[in-house]
Amino acid sequence: MASSSHLSLLLLFLTLNLTLATVAEEGKSVTTASPEKTYIFRVDHRSKPSIFPTHSHWYASSAFAGGGDPLPLLHVYDTVFHGFSASLHPDRAAELARHPAVLAVFEDRLRRLHTTRSPQFLGLRTQVGLWSDSDYGSDVIVGVLDTGIWPEHRSFSDRNLGPVPSRWSGACETGPGFPASLCNRKLIGARYFSQGHDFNAAVGGSGINDTIEFRSPRDADGHGTHTASTAAGRHAFRASMAGYAAGIAKGVAPKARIAAYKVCWKGAGCLDSDILAGFDRAVADGVDVISVSIGSGDGVAAPYYLDPIAVGSFGAVSKGVFVSSSAGNDGPSPMSVTNLAPWLITVGAGTIDRSFPAEIVLGDGRRLAGVSLYSGKPLAGAMLPLVYPGQSGGLSASLCMENSLDPKLVKGKIVICDRGSSPRVAKGMVVKDAGGAAMILANGNSNSEGLVADAHVLPACAVGSDEGDAIKAYVSSTASPTATMAFEGTMVGVKPAPVVASFSGRGPNGLCPEFLKPDLIAPGVNILAAWTDAVGPTGLDSDGRKTEFNILSGTSMACPHVSGAAALLKSANPAWSPAAIRSAMMTTASLVDNRQQPITDESTGGAATPLDFGAGHLNLDRAMDPGLVYDLGDQDYVTFLCALGYGPNAIQVITHTPASCPVKRPAAENLNYPSISVAFDGAGGGAQSKTILRTVTNVGANAEAVYKAKVEVVGKGAAVTVRPEKLAFTAGVKKRSFAVTATATGEGNGPDGGVGYGYLTWSDGTHEVRSPIVVSRIQPL
Ligand SMILES: *[C@@H]1O[C@H](CO)[C@@H](O)[C@H](O)[C@H]1NC(C)=O
Repeated sequence: MASSSHLSLLLLFLTLNLTLATVAEEGKSVTTASPEKTYIFRVDHRSKPSIFPTHSHWYASSAFAGGGDPLPLLHVYDTVFHGFSASLHPDRAAELARHPAVLAVFEDRLRRLHTTRSPQFLGLRTQVGLWSDSDYGSDVIVGVLDTGIWPEHRSFSDRNLGPVPSRWSGACETGPGFPASLCNRKLIGARYFSQGHDFNAAVGGSGINDTIEFRSPRDADGHGTHTASTAAGRHAFRASMAGYAAGIAKGVAPKARIAAYKVCWKGAGCLDSDILAGFDRAVADGVDVISVSIGSGDGVAAPYYLDPIAVGSFGAVSKGVFVSSSAGNDGPSPMSVTNLAPWLITVGAGTIDRSFPAEIVLGDGRRLAGVSLYSGKPLAGAMLPLVYPGQSGGLSASLCMENSLDPKLVKGKIVICDRGSSPRVAKGMVVKDAGGAAMILANGNSNSEGLVADAHVLPACAVGSDEGDAIKAYVSSTASPTATMAFEGTMVGVKPAPVVASFSGRGPNGLCPEFLKPDLIAPGVNILAAWTDAVGPTGLDSDGRKTEFNILSGTSMACPHVSGAAALLKSANPAWSPAAIRSAMMTTASLVDNRQQPITDESTGGAATPLDFGAGHLNLDRAMDPGLVYDLGDQDYVTFLCALGYGPNAIQVITHTPASCPVKRPAAENLNYPSISVAFDGAGGGAQSKTILRTVTNVGANAEAVYKAKVEVVGKGAAVTVRPEKLAFTAGVKKRSFAVTATATGEGNGPDGGVGYGYLTWSDGTHEVRSPIVVSRIQPL
C-alpha cells in the first residue's frame, strides 16, 4: 500500500478519536448524528506546489487547509480522479469549495447493489469449447467492485494457471479471517474500502456491523462472490443450489484473473467515497476490466460530474480499462435505466432457457403454474387450508410485512402474500415465524413484475397477478378453501429465451436522450454462481442454510457476463479500446430468441424494442469478429460533454484535464456511439429532421472490404436515410464516415413521445454491423 494510504488511515484514526471525545464531552449519546458529513473534493492536481512530494502531503497540509487544522482525510484519490474525501462540517466544506484548486465538492451518497434477492443461471449460450480449452483470458485481469469475495470457493481455484501477469501491482489486503495466503494465481488481489462507513459510525451513524461483516475483503453478503464467479469463475463440476440447476458452473472467462475490491458492505451499502477509492485503486493496480453491479439507489440520474461511477469509470476508460455496469432493476417503466455515462457499457437483463416450475392445486381441482426454488420437505400432496391475510388484515398483512400476521389466523395454513415493499424471501420468513405452513407469493396489479423464483425458507411458490387474483377469488368465495403445491425441479430448453426481464432498466436515457441506454442485455435471470459461506441462499440473517452455489436474478448478474466477455475480447484483441470492445458487442448482438423470433419483453409479452434491450442480446461468438467498430476516445467524450453544455469545471471534474469547448456548441447526437438516438422537441409538431454523423473503423481481415447500408424502420412515425450507402475501405483508409438523416414524419406519434425505432446494418457479405435506431419526441418538462 502506498504511503499516502497510511497517512490517510492515520489521520482517520486521529479523527475518530477526536470526534468520539467531543461527543462524550458534550454528554450526548453517540447515536446523535454529528453535523459533519463526508464530502468528496475534486482537486486540480496540477496546482500542487512543488514543496509537497505527493498530493497526499499537500491535501493533508495546513497550507491546503488555509492555515487551519489539517483536513481529516478519508481517502486520497490519484488515479482515475484527483482529490480526496474528508468528513467536515458543512460550513468548512463550503469554505473549501472556494479554495482555488478545488474544482468541485460533492456530498457522499449511498448506492445499492443491482440484484433482486433471488434465484439462477445458464451461461452464455454461445460459449463453446473455443475458449474453455484455450488460454484466452489468462492474461486479463478483471476487477470486481462489490461486496468482496469468498476466497476458498472452488470457483477461484488457481489450478493449472500460469504466473500472475508481471504488470500486476495490486495487493492482498489482510483482515479478520483473511490472511494474504488466500490470494492465489486466480484471485490475484483483494482490497476493502470502509473509510466512508467508519466515519459514519464514529459520528453515531450505523456504520459497518461487525457482527455480520468481516473487516477484510471477505464477502459476508454473497453478491460479490456471485458476480466475480460469473465473470471469471473456474469450471466447477456438479454445481447446483440444493439440486436446482445442477451441472457445470463456470464464468464467462474462466482463466481470467480476479481482483476483488470490497466497496459495499452488508447492511450498510456502498458509499460514493468508497466506490471512487475502489476505481482509483483498481486502475492503479493494473486491472483491464472493471465490473460494477452497483448504481443509483433512488432511480434519479445525477449529472455525470456528481456520479462516482461515471467519474471513476471515465478515469478508468481513459487509461484503457473497460468498465461494465448494470442497468438497474427499476424496469419496466420508461427511463428507468441507470449508469448513463457514454464511456461505460450498461447491461440490462434477459432470461435464459431454464426455469423452476411449481404448481398450485386448489381445493376445487384447478391447477395454476408458478415458479419456486424451495428445496426442503415438500407438501407431498397434502391439502392445507388457504388464507389471504389481506382480506381482513389491511395492507401490511396483505404484504406479509414483519409483525403483521396473526398466528391464530395463519397457523398450519398456506398463506397468500402480495409482492412489494419487503424482500420476497423476507415475507416467507414472516409467514414461517407466524406458524404458516407455506406461502403463495402473488404479483401485484400487473404481470409486468415478471416471475422470480426464490430459495424460500418454507414451501412457497411465486405466481403472476392473474393467478393470484384467481386464487384470492377462490378464497373469498369458498367456505373452507384449501390448496397444495408441488415443486417440479429444473426445466431446461424453455422457449422463448432470452426474453427481456420485466425488472431490467429501460430507456430512453433520462440524462441525455441523444444517445441510447441500456447498451445491450445479457443473462440476468436465474443465474447459478458461487456463494459465500457466511449466509444462506436468501441472504437473511435468520436463514441458517448453507449453499455452495446460489441462483440469483438482477442486472447485477447480467453485468459480469459482459465483464467476462470483455476480458476474452481484450485478450484476443489487445489493441482495441474500451469503446471498440463495446462496439463489437453491440453491433453483433442478437435480436432473435431461441425460436428465431424477435426477442420479446416479459412485461408486455410483445416484441421488445431498442429502448428495452439496446442493441440486443450479447452474442460473444460474433463479437470476436465485428468487421467494423465505432470507436471513441477521450476527446470525443469531451466534445460530448461540451454538447451537454457542461462548463469547464464540470468537465474537468470528469476528465482531469482542462477542457475548452468549441465556440459553436456541438450536437450530442454526433457522439460516435454504436447506437443512434435522435430526439426531437416534443412541443414542435409536424415533420422534423436531423442529420447526424458517424465514423466506422475497419477491423476485419479484409482491408479492402466494401460495406453496403440497409435501414429498417418500424412504425410510420419515423423515416431514416443514410449517405453514402456504400463504404469502401483500403489498406490505407481504415476509417469511413457517413451521415444518417432521421425524420419524425408527424404521423403516428404516441403520447409518450415514442415515434419509431429501427436498425441500420452495414454488410460486406461476411459481417453484419448493426446499430439500433430510436427516433423520439421528448416532451419539455
Ligand atoms: C448487528 O447485527 C446483529 C445481527 O443481525 C444485530 O443483532 C445487531 O443489532 C446489529 N447491530 C447494530 C448496531 O445494528
